[in-house]
Amino acid sequence: MQLSEGIRARRSVRKYKAGSVIPEEHIRAMLEAAMMAPSAVNSRPWEFYVVQTRATLEKLMQAHPACKMLETASLAIAVCARPDLQPGRGFWPQDCGAAIENILLQALDLGYGTCWCGCYPAQPRADEVQKVLGCTGIPVALVAVGVADESPAARGFYDPERVHFL
Ligand SMILES: Cc1cc2nc3c(=O)[nH]c(=O)nc-3n(C[C@H](O)[C@H](O)[C@H](O)COP(=O)(O)O)c2cc1C
Repeated sequence: MQLSEGIRARRSVRKYKAGSVIPEEHIRAMLEAAMMAPSAVNSRPWEFYVVQTRATLEKLMQAHPACKMLETASLAIAVCARPDLQPGRGFWPQDCGAAIENILLQALDLGYGTCWCGCYPAQPRADEVQKVLGCTGIPVALVAVGVADESPAARGFYDPERVHFL
């Protein structure tokens, strides 16, 4: 899939073919894409938790009020910020956002559906997800990944009123 086509075709998918297994090389490709994202002073202030066990996915669904799609997802990638790797700057939410988007686009290119489920700065969900993962990093998002069992249509939101040429 061409990059331009992928950007325009991507939609959040919230229903997956339960029980689908994502091969290790595809997981690796998604993580690699995430880590290719730009970051302030190239600090790469992130870490990733790949959650595949049903028991932990269930716990994430309890910790986060809007990630019920994990019921049928093959896995979740938790993108966690490490502000300590970027002392005194504070660009880490943007950096993690770029990494998350790269996961969505890489997954799409590999044939998977995804849904970005935001954690930070929403509380208590970020703290609750952190407890489930047992991490010190700040959970910025859970990305549900699976074989899509629905195909939301591509749509466009180009709004010339939001664009200002100076
Ligand atoms: C920061 C952020 C947080 C989001 N959190 C959730 C969420 O918790 N649960 C969910 O189902 N979708 C979540 N979404 C997905 C949005 O609802 C979705 O991207 C938006 O409605 C546009 O639809 P589309 O992705 O199909 O284009 C989130 C998206 C972003 C960027």
